[in-house]
This record gives sequence, C-alpha cells and structure tokens, in this order.
Amino acid sequence: MAEPLVVLDGVNKHFGDLHVLKDINLSVARGEVVVVIGPSGSGKSTLCRTINRLETYESGSITIDGEPLPEEGKALARLRSDVGMVFQAFNLFAHKTILDNVTLGPLKVRRVPKAQAQQRARELLERVGIEEQAGKYPAQLSGGQQQRVAIARSLAMDPKIMLFDEPTSALDPEMITEVLEVMTQLAQTGMTMIVVTHEMGFARRAADRVVFMSDGEIVEEATPEEFFTNPRSDRAKDFLGKILAH
Ligand SMILES: Nc1ncnc2c1ncn2[C@@H]1O[C@H](COP(=O)(O)OP(=O)(O)OP(=O)(O)O)[C@@H](O)[C@H]1O
Ligand SMILES: [Mg+2]
Repeated sequence: MAEPLVVLDGVNKHFGDLHVLKDINLSVARGEVVVVIGPSGSGKSTLCRTINRLETYESGSITIDGEPLPEEGKALARLRSDVGMVFQAFNLFAHKTILDNVTLGPLKVRRVPKAQAQQRARELLERVGIEEQAGKYPAQLSGGQQQRVAIARSLAMDPKIMLFDEPTSALDPEMITEVLEVMTQLAQTGMTMIVVTHEMGFARRAADRVVFMSDGEIVEEATPEEFFTNPRSDRAKDFLGKILAH
C-alpha cells in the first residue's frame, strides 16, 4: 500500500489540566476524504490545528508526506503552505480585492510571477464559481461567496492536503449548499481532505471514512454507510440520535 500522506501516531495534547487529544492514531491516505464529527469540545478543531502546527503537542508524532512536522522557521512556513486550511471565519483581507486575496500567498510565499499567479487565481475563482467577483472586495460578497474565495485562496498554494474546520457553520442554508458543492467537486478531483463538519449529507456523499471523536479520543472510524446505519459505540449512537433529531 502507498505511504499515507498524513500520519498521527500516539499524539497527546493538554490545555492545562484538560487532556484534549488522547493518544490519537490516524492515517490519511493520498486522495482520501476523512470527515471528523463529534460533540462540541471533543477536540476536532484542536486536531486540525495540531496537524497544521497552529497548536503544539506533547507526545507522539505527526508526519506529512513522510516528513515530521517542523517546529519553526522556513520549514514550518513550507509546511503551512502544503497544508491548506479553511475555517468557519473566512479571514479574507478586507482591503484587498478578491483577486489579490487569492494571489497574495503565491506571490509572497511561492514567489510565483504576477501574471502567472493572476491567471491561476482566475482559474481557481472560476472553479469555485465566482470568477465575475475578482475585482470586488470581500464585504461586497455573500458569506458563501467569501468562503469559496477562502477555498480558492488555499488551493492557490497547491496544498498537498486541505483541512476544513466547520467551513459552513456560519452560513445561511442556501449558501451552505454552494460551498459543499465546491468541496464535493474538490474531493472528486482527488484532493486529500480532512473535514470537520456537522453536514451529514456531505459526509455520506463525499467521505471515504468518518472519524468520530468524543472527549479527545477517536472512538470510532468507519465508512459513512457503516457509521450512519450501524454506529457501534454508545457515544456515537447518542451523538447521532441528537443531531439526526434536529
Ligand atoms: N486555546 C485553548 N485554551 C484552553 N482550552 C482550549 C483551547 N482551545 C480549546 N480548548 C478546549 O479544548 C477542548 C477541545 O476544543 P476544540 O475546540 O478542539 O473542540 P471541538 O471539537 O472543535 O468543539 P466545537 O464543535 O465546539 O468546535 C475544549 O474543552 C476546549 O474548551
Ligand atoms: Mg471546533
């Protein structure tokens, strides 16, 4: 079997006395789409942030594409550009146009020539369905459009993997659909993705695997079909009962 792209091996993390990641073992294959679900406070965001080294951890190891996570400096900057991350808040630069938001990383970090960066940015904006917004500013776009810009901006760095942390939870329902469609397409192109979401339709449709977290632990891992129809643990049953009751 090909070497996995991301491997977490026995990762532990505390915030003070709180043990937020408990001996996490997780391998993500190239091209695999892993959806992480679980109750609030179970450690999903911390898991994502640890993979991107926005958080430190105390023990265990994390490798990306066979290389251990760098601690600092240039190697860390390179890692950050290999790992795209899309959060609930879009964090676009308010005083830059959409096009400039998408070209900024490639120009500054990757040192791509301007014309090339702009052409690629336009292609990506087209891919996420908002090419006609290129000259506007973030505040002139809807939340769903801004989130699609944030996805294009991450993709402009040619990441090896994309992490999504509840990318649609701040959006109105009609905008959720358009963002999930972009993510589904991205999954179909073979992008490796870790997605924290409460969108169970997306999980069923796009995930290769569902990882269920509770209290800092990975409690269950299964295909979406298995997980949603036949959850094994009481914690997963309880969680699914609550969200599906909505
Ligand atoms: N910077 C921090 N300092 C202290 N505690 C933190 C910090 N960040 C998170 N925590 C705690 O760590 C635990 C895990 O938080 P995390 O944000 O990873 O959960 P989550 O599964 O993403 O939850 P949610 O579904 O609400 O986003 C929670 O108990 C949280 O309060
Ligand atoms: Mg979270």
